[in-house]
Amino acid sequence: MLRDKRIVLCITGGIAVYKAVELLRLLTKAGAEVHVIMTRSAQEFVAPLTFQTLSMNPVHSELFNLIAEQEIGHISLADRADLFIIAPATANVIGKIACGIADDMLTTTVMATKAPVLIAPAMNVNMYTNPIYRENQDKLLRLNYMFVPPEKGTLACGWEGEGKLATPEAIFEMAVSALTPKDLIGQTIMVTAGPTREEIDPVRFISNYSSGKMGYALARSAQRRGSRVILVSGPVSIAAPSGVELVQVESAQEMHAQVMARAAACSIVIKAAAVADYRPEERKEGKIKKQSDEMILRLVKNPDILADLGSLEHRPFLAGFAAETGGLKSNAAKKLKEKNLDMIVANDVSQADAGFNVDTNRAWLFFRDGRSVECPLMPKEELASLILDHIVAEFSAR
Ligand code: C5P
Repeated sequence: MLRDKRIVLCITGGIAVYKAVELLRLLTKAGAEVHVIMTRSAQEFVAPLTFQTLSMNPVHSELFNLIAEQEIGHISLADRADLFIIAPATANVIGKIACGIADDMLTTTVMATKAPVLIAPAMNVNMYTNPIYRENQDKLLRLNYMFVPPEKGTLACGWEGEGKLATPEAIFEMAVSALTPKDLIGQTIMVTAGPTREEIDPVRFISNYSSGKMGYALARSAQRRGSRVILVSGPVSIAAPSGVELVQVESAQEMHAQVMARAAACSIVIKAAAVADYRPEERKEGKIKKQSDEMILRLVKNPDILADLGSLEHRPFLAGFAAETGGLKSNAAKKLKEKNLDMIVANDVSQADAGFNVDTNRAWLFFRDGRSVECPLMPKEELASLILDHIVAEFSAR
């Protein structure tokens, strides 16, 4: 996701320095090349060796270190970066940056960069609410510096309130978003995700192994690109990306109603949900009692949401999914045509490392004009971004 991205992670002195270790891990895991700069006081909390080992790059701290400057000087760090992250950022360093003070390696490099700068403040609540701090933050916001707001909670100093460093995951999310081209601004995208549940009685249902991971990754990816995202989700155990409009449903009929009601407001619909094709003909009011040795459950067909979207007069751009256990290409091509889709993502769910309930997936993308693209095994987050690259290309060519 962050492959080929060069990030400078600036760490200043606060108890939250230990959280920067986790942030660094998230960044490198996503493929970023990370260079760490630490202030002298940051090194009092966690030794540079930790950051050096995890980033696999030397940690910078002294402006006048001739050897380090010769290898990769502060100006070349500033020039080559795609993004600067300051986490945790103390009131002191934010004040210095706001006032143009450049008196150490960190502030000098930040001053010298043209890359976007993301600041994650962490400080005592009284410092955070101090009007001097506020003025500094407002000035930097006006100058397009980005901030990840701190959380409320018990602070290291014992006070309660705002000032706790945002979670590494929240900072990571803002960083990815800052590095993602905003090519879906102005669009409303609806993503469906997860399984549906078809009730048999008050305690039993028919469902499938869908975890919602692929759909949620698509929703997150669309959100990062600047679109409004409506996520219509069946019951899953993962959290919705912050900022998306979550519509929770249980059954295929409920999903059908919620999707159709919103279709006209959407320019793109991505149907990643594993919708049950059939539901019990009748839902019993009371729990079915164990009686004879056999029980026959009569099923009736659910509405095909995607096909109904495809037959709308003014239909949005439609991307469907095909989960197959055989005949992948022919089945996908047939569905694309029959349901009147713009593209279909086909994956073989019989493989252990792809499809339902795992973090990775491999897929084939099929388009209306007969073209197809193979996507090899990769994390669902990465596949989501790749699918959206294709959707953006197809959508803008329409
Ligand atoms: O026909 P099949 O169920 O294999 O097609 C899968 C695609 O159709 C998926 O995108 C799925 O979300 C969608 N679908 C639907 N309504 C159904 C069944 C599937 O929208 N009842």
